[in-house]
Amino acid sequence: MGFGRANLTPTDDRGWVFNRLAEHYPARPGYPDELVDRLAGLMGGTGSEVVELGAGIGDLAIPLAGRGLRVHAVEPARAMLSLLRERARELPAITAVHAAAESTGLPAACCDAVVLADAVQWVEPRLTGREVARLLRPGGLLAVVEAWPLPTPFMTALVGAIETFNPRARRRPPGRATQLFGCAGGRCWEVERWEDRVPLDRARLESILRSLSFVGPALGERALDDLLAAADGLAARCEPIWARELLLHLGSIDGPKPDA
Ligand SMILES: C[S@@+](CC[C@H](N)C(=O)[O-])C[C@H]1O[C@@H](n2cnc3c(N)ncnc32)[C@H](O)[C@@H]1O
Repeated sequence: MGFGRANLTPTDDRGWVFNRLAEHYPARPGYPDELVDRLAGLMGGTGSEVVELGAGIGDLAIPLAGRGLRVHAVEPARAMLSLLRERARELPAITAVHAAAESTGLPAACCDAVVLADAVQWVEPRLTGREVARLLRPGGLLAVVEAWPLPTPFMTALVGAIETFNPRARRRPPGRATQLFGCAGGRCWEVERWEDRVPLDRARLESILRSLSFVGPALGERALDDLLAAADGLAARCEPIWARELLLHLGSIDGPKPDA
């Protein structure tokens, strides 16, 4: 059986696009400490068991484990998972799981919380919703973090430039988090909003661009060079800051919202 949009299994290494950009992924900013603190608290703090679906190289899983949570980091792209393993080697509280969100192979009712961070757009919602409902213990938390570019002059112009070079890099429709809660048979209680701004130098800007699935692996070298030149021009005109809005969707698949 295949999973996800591309109907792949985790052993189909060539099919998972993040295998082709993993080397550039560490340039991407992680998550603000305040957001990780908030999530760790909501998930029950030290000793709680968490499953992260689409954990990538561990940008969220590692700081959660650093706060005492036990994290099962599920990731289908082997190159991403091996970077996660390398970065987490001092953290026994992380288990790396080579699997897709739609079928993790983890035991039923194994965790107090499931989280997807910048990954909900990659999973097949119906199968993943069913898997989330299977993994969560009664009263468990489902958290979905979505990342969107903030409409700063630099980010707006950069997104426009990317779309010029790759018209298929269309902005993804909102609503995937809500859809996942519905497919899990659950409900979102609230959405918290965070902002993150990280100044970029030229090398980091290039690596971040190369780490985007609709840029690095999607454009040929020539178009990529032209896009990088356009990005340099933008960075000379507007302050190059990677600015994101982070939406934290919180809810459960059963039971009421706990007291804040
Ligand atoms: C944008 S990255 C986010 C990684 C990490 N959560 C973070 O916040 O840095 C999206 C991740 O989802 C993974 N992914 C793609 N399809 C998936 C699927 N069907 N199941 C689980 N993960 C998937 C990708 O391989 C990639 O590592």
